[in-house]
Amino acid sequence: MIYFDNAATTLQKPPQVEEAVLRAMRTLGNAGRGAHEPTLQAAREIYETRVALAELFHISDPMRIAFTSNATEAMNTAISGLFCPGDHVVTTVCEHNSVLRPLYRMEQYGVELSFLQADRNGLPDYSQLETLCRRNTKAIVMTHASNLTGNVNDLKRVSAFAKEKGLLLVTDAAQTAGIIPIDVQELGIDVLCFTGHKGLLGPQGTGGLYVRSGIVIPSFKVGGSGVHSYDRVHPDEMPTALEAGTLNGHGIAGLRAALGYLKQTGIEQIYEKERKLADRFVNGIRDIPGVTLYGDFSRDDAAGSRNRVAIVSLNIRDEDSAAVADWLWEDYGICVRAGAHCAPLMHRTFGTVNQGAVRFSFSHYNTEEEIDLAIRAVRELAQ
Ligand code: ALA
Repeated sequence: MIYFDNAATTLQKPPQVEEAVLRAMRTLGNAGRGAHEPTLQAAREIYETRVALAELFHISDPMRIAFTSNATEAMNTAISGLFCPGDHVVTTVCEHNSVLRPLYRMEQYGVELSFLQADRNGLPDYSQLETLCRRNTKAIVMTHASNLTGNVNDLKRVSAFAKEKGLLLVTDAAQTAGIIPIDVQELGIDVLCFTGHKGLLGPQGTGGLYVRSGIVIPSFKVGGSGVHSYDRVHPDEMPTALEAGTLNGHGIAGLRAALGYLKQTGIEQIYEKERKLADRFVNGIRDIPGVTLYGDFSRDDAAGSRNRVAIVSLNIRDEDSAAVADWLWEDYGICVRAGAHCAPLMHRTFGTVNQGAVRFSFSHYNTEEEIDLAIRAVRELAQ
């Protein structure tokens, strides 16, 4: 089997992740629910994971990070908590449904939305920001990288605009956390949503959000907190404010081990390897007659530039993307994702609503031999 579906979830994890989860299952109690060794052990594990995430994202106070079960829960928490009827939000057509659907739901309650359109390569037209802004605009909600095209958006530019206008910048880093360096201070990110099971190489069921100091997000989820139990309202201190109920301590322990691996290996090295593999794939298929690529590949050879993550989506003539994915699996043992990728507005932009697209997404654990086999498979299918 060749696994090229790493944008959905990374399948191969560092061995220490598995070991950490197993160890945690044997040793962790419930964090913050007592003072015996197993509960303290859980609290320490969770705190050290916050510290490691804070270091990765250049967050000065680890307690501004709350854990969630994935990026979707983080986006729901941010979007449902930040906006009120009458607020206006600017977002983009590059977003995943984890951003779009919470926004559409808020729209039903009176939040107004505007969309930055994208060009034929899926790059947002940043020049529209100025005209989309209104006097009631509260935030820009933008993905760091598209899960369909792999294009990395220009957050620096968007952040500068947001700061100038006094807007919040809420970022979906589902496809970049652990892959592209993210410095929330340098990028002026007010709320950063991430998942643990993709580029961070942790277990599924982990993720979280960073909320800049000074921003209050009332959670839609309240309940057990282990503290202030006689109060009728849930505590409002971070991170407890956004962490009602028992945390996924076992998964978080695995995430901590994954963060240790990323630090030791270096996310720059990981990125270089993934980028090289993706470039090799693109160079091998881009001239095959009948193959259409989706995304901006114009700067593919610019060494060191981090304008793409290792995602390559394509179609072969007008073949249904699901059929191509099935052939890749049945005939070559290659795992890819077909269909809409929960990115409906990107598919509208590309005119691929019915066809979908075949998405290859690479990991640094993949090899050049695997890439070459995929190139051969695409060539044979196109013929
Ligand atoms: N959001 C994930 C993907 O892009 C699941 O496949």
